[in-house]
Amino acid sequence: MPKNTLSVTDNRTGKTYEFPIESGCIRTMDLRQIKLNEKDFGLMGYDPAFLNTANCKSAITYIDGDAGILEYRGYPIEQLAEKSTFIEVAYLLIHGDLPNKEQLAEFLHLVTHHTYVHENIKTFMDGFRYDAHPMSILSSTVAALSGFYPDAMDVKNAARRRIQMIRMIAKMPTIAAFSYRHSMGLPYVYPNNDLSYCGNFLAMVRKMAEANYKVSPVLERALDILFILHADHEQNCSTTATRLVGSSEVDPFSAVAAGITALYGPLHGGANEAVLRMLREIGSVSRVPDFIKQVKDGHGTKLMGFGHRVYKNFDPRAVVIKRVAYEVFEVTGKNPLLDIALELERVALQDDYFMKRKLYPNVDFYSGLIYEAMGFPAEMFPVLFAIPRTAGWVTQWEEMIQDPEQKIARPRQIFIGSKRRDYVPIEKRA
Ligand code: CMC
Repeated sequence: MPKNTLSVTDNRTGKTYEFPIESGCIRTMDLRQIKLNEKDFGLMGYDPAFLNTANCKSAITYIDGDAGILEYRGYPIEQLAEKSTFIEVAYLLIHGDLPNKEQLAEFLHLVTHHTYVHENIKTFMDGFRYDAHPMSILSSTVAALSGFYPDAMDVKNAARRRIQMIRMIAKMPTIAAFSYRHSMGLPYVYPNNDLSYCGNFLAMVRKMAEANYKVSPVLERALDILFILHADHEQNCSTTATRLVGSSEVDPFSAVAAGITALYGPLHGGANEAVLRMLREIGSVSRVPDFIKQVKDGHGTKLMGFGHRVYKNFDPRAVVIKRVAYEVFEVTGKNPLLDIALELERVALQDDYFMKRKLYPNVDFYSGLIYEAMGFPAEMFPVLFAIPRTAGWVTQWEEMIQDPEQKIARPRQIFIGSKRRDYVPIEKRA
């Protein structure tokens, strides 16, 4: 029987060590046994950006990047997008199993009855200038919620944890819609408990003088599918930020606010906004070859919405989104940027540069086109990513809190700075 271990010989000392292999990993702490002498600190792993380091064990989301597979709690994303709802998926992520009818009704009731925010939140949001980016308003407001729920500090208390998780899923659409209304100089619209999760969000964004804003069922369902696709994606940058900040046992509002700020960047959830700006800049199908050439020239221009750390095949979410886009365009009319996007995709998928590097369209390549067709300005796109990802962040946060192996996150460094030297008074410095 081959042993499930790794033998390592340290050529500096000639000593051989044997480490257990578990789930395709060795424990980097085992490397510390490898020492030059008793005083030596021991070997560490150096892995900037966690390229090859698992930071946790997780039972939430499974990705096979080579095969283009994404599953939440074992359920394929394609099935969930076709048959489920975002609320059911949020329940699935948090509880680990799909709900029965009573469980779903109870969960929906809880989420629906925590959608309101304290009136002072409005005052807080009013402090922002009219042109503040809505992601900046969203992250700050979610961080501010910790000041409204001091019981959230009690992260060891399961019941308290759950209520904060519900609060965040429930209030995120309200805060997101308020951030949009603020930037437009429009009055805030309060949540309507008679509407669905997405229907209520669309109404809070769009409602003007009409007594009852009628939400298009096609757009409502399309948004629900987009929310399902964005609900979780295992240990990405924003989820890792949430886990790392949460590992100090700070309240979950503060931890999720860190996740939102991480998502804001153009390499992560801000990519959907960047895709739209890129398509506008390209301007016409005839300019696609020039743009692709510019990307390949290697002067830093990227084909936004392409490439992924984990997927080296089609992002399964992008495949679903492309189908949803056509359904939305039936109602809204085709987004004129679609032709440019299709041509970019066609050219890139046949080009050696992209093929060699296994660069495929990711979730953000088409989502912005849908959001724009729905009438959202580009700055709202990352906000539309953050609303559903909240379900993932809070689930991952709670898993981290309950994991007996987790401790406060504290990586090591390789110090490359100056050797010790003595302080020189300013008048004696060169
Ligand atoms: N356009 C052109 N070249 C690219 C792109 C791109 N979009 N993405 C990667 N490359 C190149 C990169 O320059 C590198 O080339 P070389 O080997 O010659 O140096 C190679 O492909 C490998 O890329 P990498 O930067 O080492 O890959 P990474 O895993 O560090 O980065 C990524 C992943 C998503 C940050 C990157 O692909 C990217 O910047 N894409 C554009 C932004 C984007 O669409 N982000 C959304 C990601 S999906 C939503 C989410 O979950 O956040």
